[in-house]
Amino acid sequence: MSRPVPIRLRIALAAAVAALLALALLLIPRDSAPPATADNPNDAIEARIDDWLSRMTLQQKLGQLQQLDADFPSGRLRDDQLQLVREGRLGSTLNGRGAAATNAAQRVALEESSLRIPLLFSFDVIHGYRTVFPVPLGEASSWDPAAAELSASIAAQEARAAGVAWTFAPMVDVTRDPRWGRIVEGAGEDSYLGSVFSAARVHGFQGDDYSRPDRVAATAKHWVAYGGTEAGRDYNTVDVSDRRLREFYFPPFRAAVDAGVATFMTSFNEVNGVPATANPYVLRDVLRREWGFDGPVVSDYTAIRELIIHGVAADDADAAQLAVNAGTDIEMVSRTIAENGERLVAEGKLSEATIDEAVRHVLRLKYRLGLFDRPYVDASREAAVLSDPQHRREARRIAGRSMVLLKNDGGALPLSRDLRKVALVGPLADSQVDMMGTWIGDGKESDVVTIRDGLEQVYGSRNVRYAQGCDAPCRSSGGFGNALAAVRSSQAAVVVLGEPWDWSGEASARSRIDLPGKQEQLLKAIAATGKPYVVVLMNGRPLTIDWAARHAPAIVEAWYPGSEAGNAVADVLTGKVDPGGKLPVTFPRSTGQIPIHYDEKPTGRPFDPANKYTSKYLDVDNTPLYPFGFGLSYTRFALSDLSVSPGTIDADGSVSVSATVRNVGRRAGDEVVQLYLRDRVASVTRPVRSLRGFSRVTLQPGASQRVTFRLDRDDLALLDASGRSVVEPGAFTVWVSNSSVGGLEASFTVE
Ligand code: BGC
Repeated sequence: MSRPVPIRLRIALAAAVAALLALALLLIPRDSAPPATADNPNDAIEARIDDWLSRMTLQQKLGQLQQLDADFPSGRLRDDQLQLVREGRLGSTLNGRGAAATNAAQRVALEESSLRIPLLFSFDVIHGYRTVFPVPLGEASSWDPAAAELSASIAAQEARAAGVAWTFAPMVDVTRDPRWGRIVEGAGEDSYLGSVFSAARVHGFQGDDYSRPDRVAATAKHWVAYGGTEAGRDYNTVDVSDRRLREFYFPPFRAAVDAGVATFMTSFNEVNGVPATANPYVLRDVLRREWGFDGPVVSDYTAIRELIIHGVAADDADAAQLAVNAGTDIEMVSRTIAENGERLVAEGKLSEATIDEAVRHVLRLKYRLGLFDRPYVDASREAAVLSDPQHRREARRIAGRSMVLLKNDGGALPLSRDLRKVALVGPLADSQVDMMGTWIGDGKESDVVTIRDGLEQVYGSRNVRYAQGCDAPCRSSGGFGNALAAVRSSQAAVVVLGEPWDWSGEASARSRIDLPGKQEQLLKAIAATGKPYVVVLMNGRPLTIDWAARHAPAIVEAWYPGSEAGNAVADVLTGKVDPGGKLPVTFPRSTGQIPIHYDEKPTGRPFDPANKYTSKYLDVDNTPLYPFGFGLSYTRFALSDLSVSPGTIDADGSVSVSATVRNVGRRAGDEVVQLYLRDRVASVTRPVRSLRGFSRVTLQPGASQRVTFRLDRDDLALLDASGRSVVEPGAFTVWVSNSSVGGLEASFTVE
């Protein structure tokens, strides 16, 4: 039996324990600043961050700058990573996902670490989390930013329900080189279209408040000029003028900043001799000082350590110093900052103030995401959000809107819904994985509706004769016989050709961008049967399909349509949906024409067939196979009554441009009315035309609509020789058209 403790001793003990506890609480960093109030939320956040910074150790600060790659298949953090969380040495992860996995890791951060700063889970939610939407290049073909905004918002709902608070999207790199596999991840070749889609996607992911449980923080990536990679080879050198940076590569990033994008990611490439991840000009001068961006900049995957391989850093410490001093805040996967930061500070090579600034960016993001108030996700919602049937309905609708009808001779399409024998042939027709393209988030192959499934829904499985013909690389013609037999015994054939899903995306450059292997041979053999056939293309870049363009009766560019691919393709093939998309990128005739884009400069010797000494090739036309902005419909449209008013403005004025679009065909359909501009005479050369507006309209047969665009200072301005943005006096030409070629033309004058 133990002896009773005297009352005075008990009081003294209790007081000592209380004092110790109070001391311990003082020593443990925690969120102790005043709560945010409605009238000063930002000030309150900054005060809280000041408070954190005053109490964190240098090692804990460096921990916030570290991001590690969780186990991809399971979405869980590994034991060594959880240990770093316990020690306050890990601020964020990528690929960690799933409500259970993220909540479990969060519990370690909040209950087992001395630091108690919530972890941040990021993931590449590029075109969907569980429900996969069309690849971004496909979605841009819709010329419908509202569709992109909606798909991003659905992706955000699903991702956040699964514990992911930060996506590495949108990719807003523009490129004029379709050999570059990452063209599939962006909105194509045009800076204006790219800017509109950039803003739409940022808004879709983030909404007005990304602390909400159905929103995520977005990332503008890859900063910058990644699409300028020489020869289209991924990760290659980029050497680009400041004019090209500012006129072409920057605008979609600037649009993201204006839309409130939460974070930026650096690109792997160098920009004019200095790798982007260590480039103070783009990171500090432009992004921070000129644009006032105040969120964190994350490096791309191991890009800081790669500074050594670039040859600008001698070792890890050198790489860390260069990156942080240049303005990169978070290190993805490599650990040069975490492992060398203390030494660099001790040696005076990195100031603690610079580290504090980087940590401030990270904590600011965590506050803005609401992670301090709501660090966990409600696991009971996850399954229902991820399987919401409305998401699939939107995926089908948006995929339908993303398809582009490249050719349709003699009304080969739409196919009659009464066909009794339809052959379905081609390597991609029944391949679930290939329907989704690159970066499928947490999408499941088994959820995907293939084109075979989609056509069987319409025609019945007994009436669809499927034969693959060859696999996607199509190195063997061994299966052609079966395919041809299926075609011969059918009334019509659907031939699905294109690239395997992983022939575009990261590290997937091609030196020739034609149909893989023997696919064209298969197509020629099908054509030779004399049966009616149509071609569906699935690919992540423009293809040089000269033969098909000349011979196939009809071609639908479907890109990679996503989870609902098969239903959406069937909707378009059978005319339930009019293919109203337009190309966001030029299709070259041959690889040698690359870079080929609609907004070229006039040169001093523009192409003249009658004059050898003009800008052209000896062996191929100057024109593209299909121009930017091109796409047919099952109906026909006419543009008329262009008006421009006023005819004369001053440099700060604006012009209104209107035209009437009429559906002159017999079916309802969609047209994208496009506005192009040219500054006729300027102090610096200007493109032959530049997109400055567009509007997708749906019209019943016989119906018409007046479409009006407004052009103001930003649309008319150029960068003069000294880099100033000015509107110069003189004549401007406008075209209202249905592609980047031709159209109604008028002009106005700036005085
Ligand atoms: C890609 C990024 C991506 C990152 C994380 C890199 O290889 O370039 O676009 O966000 O990996 O997965």
